Amino acid sequence: MTVELYERAVAISQRAYAPYSNYLVGAAVRTRDGAVFEGVNVENAAYPLGVCAERSALVQAVTAGYRPGDFEAIGITASPCGGCRQWLYEFRIDDVTFRNDAGEIVTYSPSELLPDTWNLPG
Ligand code: THU
Repeated sequence: MTVELYERAVAISQRAYAPYSNYLVGAAVRTRDGAVFEGVNVENAAYPLGVCAERSALVQAVTAGYRPGDFEAIGITASPCGGCRQWLYEFRIDDVTFRNDAGEIVTYSPSELLPDTWNLPG
């Protein structure tokens, strides 16, 4: 199932807007009720304003009404950056599957990707 999400991420990565890095990234996230939202990285001439594929997929899901805890799995064509790991942790996605630098498809939990993360008190 998560390999299927990874394959959807690969397909959608072709729609990335990445004229500066030429690094096309795709992501596909599945909710517990079976909806799938896709995202791509969208870069900008002001480099720090670019958005990663994972965040762009999650923004679509949140816009449709989904919230942290509503997500089963995400497939990503790249190893998630540090900022995206924080987002994956916030949204409590059970399984995070991506292609690592060695070319292997691997699955981790958000806590494995971001150990000992702080939580706001209360
Ligand atoms: N990128 C993502 O979309 N997701 C990641 O987790 C890794 C990095 C994008 C950001 C930028 O547009 C390009 O890849 C090069 O860093």
